[in-house]
Amino acid sequence: MKLTIVTCSLLASASAHTIFTQLHVNGVAQGQTKGIRVPTYDGPNPLRTPLPKDIINVKAGDKLTAEWHHTLDSKPETDKADPIDPGHLGPVMVYLAKVDNALTTAVAGLKWFKIYEDGMDANGEWAVTRLYNKKGLVDFVLPSCIPSGQYLLRAEIIALHGAGNYPGAQLYMECAQINVTGGGNASPATVSFPGAYKGTDPGIKFQMYWPKPTSYTIPGPRPFTCSAKLK
Ligand SMILES: *[C@@H]1O[C@H](CO)[C@@H](O)[C@H](O)[C@H]1NC(C)=O
Repeated sequence: MKLTIVTCSLLASASAHTIFTQLHVNGVAQGQTKGIRVPTYDGPNPLRTPLPKDIINVKAGDKLTAEWHHTLDSKPETDKADPIDPGHLGPVMVYLAKVDNALTTAVAGLKWFKIYEDGMDANGEWAVTRLYNKKGLVDFVLPSCIPSGQYLLRAEIIALHGAGNYPGAQLYMECAQINVTGGGNASPATVSFPGAYKGTDPGIKFQMYWPKPTSYTIPGPRPFTCSAKLK
């Protein structure tokens, strides 16, 4: 069986229950949906809104924060499923793909490298629980050595509550359009979607309830780090 993952242009799962709605740069919120390719709503078969015209300027090495919400309008104060249904446990990941123009609609065949991942810790607590407790915010650092230029930044959550059988994992993702300055000359190894995940991956077909898992292998490659390239 083939695992269908569409990047940036369509939702991968039949029903999204959380949306990456906003990027923060060094703690400064850039504006709701600014430069983010968001769906029109969080239910099945959403249409994409017209592509955003903004490209968010960032510097290599910046601290970025992805902010998720249940819907474009929901708030944790009034919606218990905001930023996500707390039972939709699983990992959080961030990938980058270098593009000539971050406004591109040609997202098939892009070469992606992971820059962040968080799965299940030694106490059995999931990345999604941490995201939920932080009202949808996840911090990560843009590697300082990646080349300057335009990128799509793909923030992704996999909900594993139905992943005991394949296909059951629900993948949620959106992309931000960014312009990186002050970068270096690293050339991270890349993967493609579809391709990087398989239905048989231990992090895609995964039973999370009983027996209680003691570890979880996050799908895809390990994140690129600048220090790794010196080895
Ligand atoms: C990216 O940043 C550089 C440096 O500030 C700037 O010259 C360029 O116009 C920016 N590109 C876009 C698409 O914003």
